[in-house]
Amino acid sequence: REYNVAILGATGAVGTRMIDQLEKSSIPVKNVKFLASSRSAGKVLQFKGQDVVVEETTPEVFDDVDIVLASAGGAASKKFLPEAVKRGAVAVDNTSAFRMDSEVPLVVPEVNEQAIYDHKGIIANPNCSTIQMVVALQPIKEVAGLKQVIVSTYQAGSGAGQMAIKELDNEAQQHLDGKPMTAEIFPVKGEKKHYPLAFNLLPQIDVFEEDGSTHEEWKMVHETKKIMSGDMNSDEIKVNATCVRVPVVIGHGESVFFEVEDPSKLDTKKVQELIKNGKGLVLQDDPANQIYPQPIDAEGHTETFVGRVREDPENPGSYNMWVVADNLLKGAAANTVQIAEKLVEHDLVHVPDEYYGK
Ligand code: A2P
Repeated sequence: REYNVAILGATGAVGTRMIDQLEKSSIPVKNVKFLASSRSAGKVLQFKGQDVVVEETTPEVFDDVDIVLASAGGAASKKFLPEAVKRGAVAVDNTSAFRMDSEVPLVVPEVNEQAIYDHKGIIANPNCSTIQMVVALQPIKEVAGLKQVIVSTYQAGSGAGQMAIKELDNEAQQHLDGKPMTAEIFPVKGEKKHYPLAFNLLPQIDVFEEDGSTHEEWKMVHETKKIMSGDMNSDEIKVNATCVRVPVVIGHGESVFFEVEDPSKLDTKKVQELIKNGKGLVLQDDPANQIYPQPIDAEGHTETFVGRVREDPENPGSYNMWVVADNLLKGAAANTVQIAEKLVEHDLVHVPDEYYGK
């Protein structure tokens, strides 16, 4: 079987990488549609050397589509994906629109691939910072169980989209030219105040919750629980997150502290070995030779890189590690296309009778 595939948000920072990942994927593609807003309709992009004209997104464009890969913002997903499903398409959504919906599987193939069997037409791709963390934690959880995870993130500007990358570049240039930096997007596009990211750190990603955490931090907690324990409110693993935007263009870093359930199963060497043999993971951990993961090396790669593994001498059974991945690839486009590959592999590109939103 060959598939008609639509990319919603094809002109964006993640969308352009979805095109690239789809070209490299094992999915037999019959026809592609590149969809965006009316602003980009008529623009010409390439797929496998052929010109493809970008179309404005309407419910009807999904009439003959089998698979939708979406990254055009939560509002566009909420509006168009139920329309696509109604027309028989299965959608993999990179936005946060459906992640916490109990009828929508939230999937990282290295961790909970089997969850795709429960789909009702929509499968959600987790937040970028959640994905790389759970990929790194999964082999450890399988061997020793996880009690608690405390994470601090160092998140790249590109997570906020194409215009945000431009803003970071402009600010850097303004600063080097001795001019005041101007900010209109960071930390959050719709917020009242904006601050420069260049030569700065912003401890706000997404809006604030009533309890003083940000929504990005909330996502890391509840998405991790849904992916690793099957329920967004599970108390099996305690998770605590602090999310910080850093003036890096591509590649999120994370300082991850974790406490295992059965310390007798592990030591630092064993954790390194589990990472080395873990799915989708690359161990870069050789302090004597100053080998550790860095965003500039991770850019363009689909794996998650781990280093600086060490047991906490003050808390035996607890460890620190440093986790880096390309936020636009494993954190977004690559994981989305990987989910679509699994749907094809398991012959799950069918909308069930009781589909989402029916
Ligand atoms: P457009 O190029 O027409 O603005 P990024 O994450 O880099 O900001 O990209 C967002 C992507 O989502 C772009 O491809 C953008 O298209 C698309 N997009 C934004 N809003 C909509 C909408 N309402 N309907 C369809 N596509 C949208």
